[in-house]
Amino acid sequence: MSSISKYSKINSLKSVKKCLFPAAGYGTRFLPATKAMPKEMLPVLTKPLIQYGVEEAVSAGIDTMAIVTGRGKRAIEDHFDVSYELEHQIKGTSKESYLTEIRNLIDNCTFSYTRQVEMKGLGHAILTGKTLIGDEPFAVILADDLCDNNDEDPVLKQMVEVYEKYRCCVVAIEEVPKEETNKYGVIDGKIVDGNESVLRVSNMVEKPDPKDAPTNLAIIGRYILTPDIFDVIENTKPGKGGEIQITDALLELAQQGKVIAYKFQGKRFDCGSIEGFVEATNYFHDKAK
Ligand code: G1P
Repeated sequence: MSSISKYSKINSLKSVKKCLFPAAGYGTRFLPATKAMPKEMLPVLTKPLIQYGVEEAVSAGIDTMAIVTGRGKRAIEDHFDVSYELEHQIKGTSKESYLTEIRNLIDNCTFSYTRQVEMKGLGHAILTGKTLIGDEPFAVILADDLCDNNDEDPVLKQMVEVYEKYRCCVVAIEEVPKEETNKYGVIDGKIVDGNESVLRVSNMVEKPDPKDAPTNLAIIGRYILTPDIFDVIENTKPGKGGEIQITDALLELAQQGKVIAYKFQGKRFDCGSIEGFVEATNYFHDKAK
């Protein structure tokens, strides 16, 4: 075995300890709310979308958050930091408890940031995060896909278990109405080990017209990626919309049998759309009653 393949082997056995959050997008669908505020900071009830994502990562055993930001996103950094003035003001009052959850995250996780200077697609955003991830498997959460599974295992935790079994890339999928395939990456694949929730991916297409879609199995914003994805992205040409697509890069690994699609347990809200955002708000409000 050459020293390089030995090295890759060791790294493919590492567990998932880092989560990358692409958070550089403009959030134009939520203008004017997102004019001066990052879309990842929009709250569902009192909690910003990205905090739900970080909590989901923590529940999956991850403690290192790698956030790819852009211009106008500084509020995210401030959110995951101590606010001395505020904390001094409310110390000893009943309001102190409002900060318990975020304090726990700050105390138990590391947050690091890098900036995506140009918006060249999700694949490019993930490649920008390479400097924070290094040579180990990592999770990706798109914070505007908000997931919940009540008191059962959150979606990312389920995916880490799938990763630990198959040791290759894992994408979360769900069935969508056929006419909506043009909003998602869509996969095709075969059931593995007789488990209907786990498919070995044979094809994937970014936002196909319904007439061209291989199936109605859509990728949602949760991925576990192995570090070899970075080299593949570097060689991935712009695809749909002229952007570098993670779906296209993953197709290359899928053709080598290295991508699993996992039908997760739980609910997912598309908080990148107003309808999905309102639905999530109602759902979490009902749940909190
Ligand atoms: C991205 C991906 C797409 C995936 C979707 C999940 O698209 O490119 O493959 O299905 O996230 O939310 P976006 O919604 O950022 O346009």
